[in-house]
Amino acid sequence: MRLVLAGFGVVGQSFAALLEHKEKELASAYGLVPRIVAVVDSTGSVLDERGLDLSRVVRSKKRNGSLQTAGDRRTTSEIIAQTEADVMVETTPTNFRTGEPGLGHIRAAFISKKSVITCNKGPLGIAFHALRELARHNSVEFRYSGAVGGGTPILDFGRTCSIGDEITKVTGILNGTCNFILTKMEQDHLGFQRALALAQKEGYAEKDPSLDINGFDSAVKLAIIANHLSLSRATVRDVRVKGIAEISPGDVDRAAAKGDAVRLLATADGGELSVAPVVIRRDDPLCVSGTYNAVKFHCRYSGPKVIVGKGAGGPETASSLLRDLIEIRGSMAGESTK
Ligand code: HSE
Repeated sequence: MRLVLAGFGVVGQSFAALLEHKEKELASAYGLVPRIVAVVDSTGSVLDERGLDLSRVVRSKKRNGSLQTAGDRRTTSEIIAQTEADVMVETTPTNFRTGEPGLGHIRAAFISKKSVITCNKGPLGIAFHALRELARHNSVEFRYSGAVGGGTPILDFGRTCSIGDEITKVTGILNGTCNFILTKMEQDHLGFQRALALAQKEGYAEKDPSLDINGFDSAVKLAIIANHLSLSRATVRDVRVKGIAEISPGDVDRAAAKGDAVRLLATADGGELSVAPVVIRRDDPLCVSGTYNAVKFHCRYSGPKVIVGKGAGGPETASSLLRDLIEIRGSMAGESTK
């Protein structure tokens, strides 16, 4: 299977490492032999239709700080459209306002009949239904399980909960960076800025971390969940958002003294979507620590169900991209991988 990688930062490089590490297993268990024919990002592009040596590409990007362009003057979307491949894996940084460059990359891939796997939240938060329609129109696959929950299959779990039942409400902690900061403030008495610097160092935070702190990252993930589960057709712009910037060490300590904790909670209740810091009981299953995410699906007939797992990180998100790739391989071969 020929792949184009668009985006080659923390997640893109973790995906490349995972493919290499699991090479034998992918071939024997799934008949999946990925061949990376192009890598493009904001720094340049490398192409080889026989398949790139990804370790070399990683080493070269680390050494030079950029991909080598070899004089290619085409835009990244033109390269994506003009390269013969089956699947594009899109991991460029999220732009919550325009969705670019991810939105243009995904459109270019669909129009040139490539399936798409992405963990890029911007395009999904802005143009969810338009992209799904475009994929359908071009008879290609569109997978995005890593866009919510990093490596934790929150979207798949929610879909499974809804089969034979009805989801009436969703509540959850959807941002690893904010949860990490609140946990560090509470457990290690770190100041807000020091906790944020640690989250940035670990690669959890967005390129612009104010998007985590102000609640927009949680809002876009909530919109994706609501659309994926057909609870609402809202975009990220329809979510009422309040972040954690005004949470003080005093707020965190006062909650802790009562056996509670401050958490940034995202809620989809009927058509209403909101994100805000709230005080929750420490024994609530949603009260997770560190970069963990937790989502509760309230089901009309079977009651609430909770999924918990790490919500951010390169290797974690790469595992979701690979899960999507294995599923695409299965559907191309007409098999079910479930
Ligand atoms: N910045 C995001 C977070 C990354 O902290 O949850 C994963 O989407």
